[in-house]
Amino acid sequence: MTARRPATLALLLLGLLGACSSDNTPDVDGQALAGRRAACAACHGKTGIAQAPNFPTIAGQPTEYLVQAMTAYREGRRDNAIMNGQMRGFTDAEIQALAIYYHQQSSPLARMPEHAGARVDNDQGVTQ
Ligand code: HEC
Repeated sequence: MTARRPATLALLLLGLLGACSSDNTPDVDGQALAGRRAACAACHGKTGIAQAPNFPTIAGQPTEYLVQAMTAYREGRRDNAIMNGQMRGFTDAEIQALAIYYHQQSSPLARMPEHAGARVDNDQGVTQ
C-alpha cells in the first residue's frame, strides 16, 4: 500500500496539471472568439502588444490578473470608457479563454523582480 502511494500521488498531480494547462475552455466557440479578438488588436495588437504608448501591453500577463481586469471592466467595477464598452457581452468562459490566449503570448516587457527583497530605485537614482 505504501509503495503504491507515490504513484497514485504522481497520477493525481499529472491529472491536476493537465486540467490547469488545458487551452480548451468549455462553452467557447474558438473561431468566433478569434474573430472578436480582431477588435482588441486595434489597440492591444494581435498578440497583446500595445499599438500605441497609451494602450497597455497585455501579452504575457498572468491569466488570473487578466480575468480580474476584464471582469471588472465588464461589471463597471473598473471604470474606463473604452474598456467598459469593449468587454460588454463577453461570458465568463470567453473572458477565461481570452486571458489564456494573451497570457500565452510572449511579451517584450521586462520580467518583474521577485517581490521578497526586491531592490527599488528612489528618485535620486540611488539603489536602497
Ligand atoms: C480602442 C482601444 C482599445 C480596444 C479596442 C481594446 N482595448 Fe483593452 N484597453 C485599452 C485601454 C486604453 C486600456 C487601459 C484602460 C485603463 O486605464 O483602465 C485597456 C486595458 C485592457 C486590459 C487591462 C490591462 C492591464 O494591464 O490592466 C485588458 C486585459 C484589456 N484591455 C483587454 C482587451 C480586450 C480583450 C479587448 C477586445 C475585446 C480590448 N482590450 C479592446 C484600449 C483598448
